[in-house]
Amino acid sequence: MSEQQKYYITTPIYYVNDKPHVGTVYTTISADVLARRHRQKGDEVFFLVGVDENSQKNVESAKKAGKDVQVYVDELAGIFRETWLKLGISFDRFIRTTSAEHKKAVYDFFKRVNDKGDIYQGDYEGYYCVGCEEFKVESDLVEGKCPEHKREPEWISEKNYFFKLSNYRQALLDHIDSNPDFIQPVSRRNEMVNYIRDHMEDFSITRQTAEWGIPLPTDESQVIYVWFDALINYLSGIGFGQDQEKFEKYWPADLQLMGKNITKFHCAYWTGMLLSAGLPLPKKIYAHGFFTINGEKISKSLGNAIDPLDLIEEYPFDAVRYFMLREIKYGEDGDFSLDRLRERYNSDLANDLGNLVQRTLNMIDKYLGGKVNKSVRHDAPVDFVQVSNLTEELRFDEALKVIWLGVSWANKYIEDEKPWEIAKVGDLEKLAIVLARLYDILKDIAYELVAYLPETAEKIKDLLEVDEVVPPVGSLFPRKE
Ligand code: MSP
Repeated sequence: MSEQQKYYITTPIYYVNDKPHVGTVYTTISADVLARRHRQKGDEVFFLVGVDENSQKNVESAKKAGKDVQVYVDELAGIFRETWLKLGISFDRFIRTTSAEHKKAVYDFFKRVNDKGDIYQGDYEGYYCVGCEEFKVESDLVEGKCPEHKREPEWISEKNYFFKLSNYRQALLDHIDSNPDFIQPVSRRNEMVNYIRDHMEDFSITRQTAEWGIPLPTDESQVIYVWFDALINYLSGIGFGQDQEKFEKYWPADLQLMGKNITKFHCAYWTGMLLSAGLPLPKKIYAHGFFTINGEKISKSLGNAIDPLDLIEEYPFDAVRYFMLREIKYGEDGDFSLDRLRERYNSDLANDLGNLVQRTLNMIDKYLGGKVNKSVRHDAPVDFVQVSNLTEELRFDEALKVIWLGVSWANKYIEDEKPWEIAKVGDLEKLAIVLARLYDILKDIAYELVAYLPETAEKIKDLLEVDEVVPPVGSLFPRKE
């Protein structure tokens, strides 16, 4: 038995300028798989999720909705939390950046960095894109516009406070160099090394003109820049500035997950901030790819941002989890389409897995009166141990493929052995062994599915862990036309 370990995993905290969509669900599902896998191993898991509330983007959305900003962010934070609960996301805490605890953590953190001498006053003159919540330079723009948000950035000229990120350039490069797994996948790691080495500069950590956010404790005319505030959620979420014991138990994070669009903020800004505050760096930062919907970028203006709550009207959430993790190679870009979801649902879930469970339990009921010899082991040439390793390496599609090798083996075993014919000739001994092997592989499959398809795994386990097996009343995955 390996020793029990703590496992702290985070997702980005999402802006509340809109409700959750399949993009934000994607990162959250993948973190949920890892949290569940580590709980299954017996680790002490802390899985943090939350929302980024002190952003100008949110103010703009509140204004558009004609609502008071606080009322608006309260509403949206509630929608995020409820959505994750309805989807069965197994988070341990939902952090909000408008909470008093978070604000205190930001103040404590700022004090450390300020005491270290890494904050200085200066003038900022340049572009700012509210869509990205990011300061921009000329070379970031295409025809004068932010290529991501297709809008002209604001020109800002104001007094700001800056963080001396450049102080940490060498330390960061050294850390990345001596910890090859620190930034993953490798493509992102290389990108970050180039950025840190050649382009990284000090960044402004306050805004003079912002009306919403956490005021700077040493100069209340300034509001803390949303990224400097938001990143600290990873500390406030586990008690930094409140519960030192809890904080020390969980920090540093074992894995920080995000999409590739915000790698720079995490691999450069965040890590520099931590070095300045004298705190250890996360063990691993992983930035996955982006996906389109039917080939189009997810965007508010296209109105193609699928609400997961609409999806679960049609499909069990397990099917959505399966589809996203099986269809898109983690770390790479991909495409999401409802047609592909239906295809995968019908073939992999309804035909392969659902039928296997149904047929096996039907036969055990019909031929053995529900009684199966639980000491017989299957002999499928499938190495289920790989599922653990592949999951740990975030190779989710490959892990699912290994599980499905087991499913295919069992379906083929039924076709080859033809238990109905063994029954016809009355070889009860052989029949009992064949069905016991199928029962045994279903047990392995259910175990491996716990992290990936938690609801399905639970259903299969409930069907198996009884003295006398009875077939499920309906199919686990009824076919969709
Ligand atoms: N608030 C910041 C994060 C602060 S973390 C300290 C933010 N929020 S966001 O709402 O814009 O969320 C961005 C994240 O949502 C991405 O990094 C990714 O995790 C997820 N995704 C949003 N759209 C996505 C896709 N189309 N594809 C994959 N992931 C997507 O940035």
